[in-house]
Order: sequence, then C-alpha cells, then structure tokens
Amino acid sequence: MATKKTSTKNKKNEFDIVDLILQDHIPLKGLIKIMKNLDKTLDERKQAFEKFAPLLLIHAKPEEQILYVHMKRDKKLRMEGFEGDVEHVLAEQLIDEAKTTADDELWSARVKVLAELVEHHIEEEEDDLLPKFKKISAAEDRVGMGIEYLDAQDNTLEDGNEVVPRKSEDENSIVSPALN
Ligand SMILES: [Fe+2]
Ligand SMILES: [Fe+2]
Repeated sequence: MATKKTSTKNKKNEFDIVDLILQDHIPLKGLIKIMKNLDKTLDERKQAFEKFAPLLLIHAKPEEQILYVHMKRDKKLRMEGFEGDVEHVLAEQLIDEAKTTADDELWSARVKVLAELVEHHIEEEEDDLLPKFKKISAAEDRVGMGIEYLDAQDNTLEDGNEVVPRKSEDENSIVSPALN
C-alpha cells in the first residue's frame, strides 16, 4: 500500500528516519507519563494503555526492521541494535501480559514497569543511539530509510493492527496510512 502524503512541502528531512522516529516518540512519551502515574485513576491509565499498545507496535516493528537491522550491520552499533530488539521484546511481553491481567493491582504493576522500561528505552534512543547513528550516516541514506520506515508502518497496519494516523507538526501535512 502506498503512503499517502498530502503535504505540499517537499523538505528533505520530512522523511529522515531519525526525525520520523523522534516524531513517533512524542505521543508515546505523553501516554507513558499517564501510565506510570499512580495519582491518575485506573480508568485514565487503562485508556492510556489502550492507545499506547498499538502505537508502540506500529513504531517498534518498523524501527526494528529498518533502523536496528541497519545498525546490526555496523560494527560500532551492532550491540545497541540487539539491545533495542531485546527491549522491544520485553515491552511486547509486558503488553501481552497486561492485556490478560484481571487483577487491577497486578495490572497497574505490569503497566508501570512497562511504562518505565519504554521510557528508559526512548531516552537511550534519543540521547545516545540516534545521535550516534546520525553521525555515521549520510542524510540521503536516512531519507531512503525514512521512506522504507513509512512503508513498513503501512505493512504493520495491513497485518491487521489498529490504525494510528501520523500527524506532523504542520497541520496540513498528514501522512495517514490508508485503511481497509
Ligand atoms: Fe526502540
Ligand atoms: Fe523508538
């Protein structure tokens, strides 16, 4: 399925994989704050989790398939690529467990650990991994990878996952995977 793009702008970095990843992190970080905050009601945390789970999936799978695969081919970044994979697996496990947890307190504990894990993971990506990757990569290559990343997001959606439209800072620029 082709990615639909309605922006009239054609800025190169619009498709830079690093920028796309950073943009995906923004809503995840907002939901994490709610999920780990026990001052929020159970309902508020449950609603945040319901949004978080598909949003994380549609971010994590393409990140693994495009960015981490690329990193694992680079001597210096190989270990960090694996570390990313491992953390994604742990997050996925916690999500699956939380989905089938009936006890509210056990659910709260699992979701708090999940939120803290992904928060730490995102921090490492933003403070360490992405800046390192940016240093060793050419802007053109990152744009090519960004296009692949968007295609991989479309494929993740086609696999039957929930739809989460991407909205950029520019109100008129919405890249939203077409559905059905
Ligand atoms: Fe990640
Ligand atoms: Fe990420």
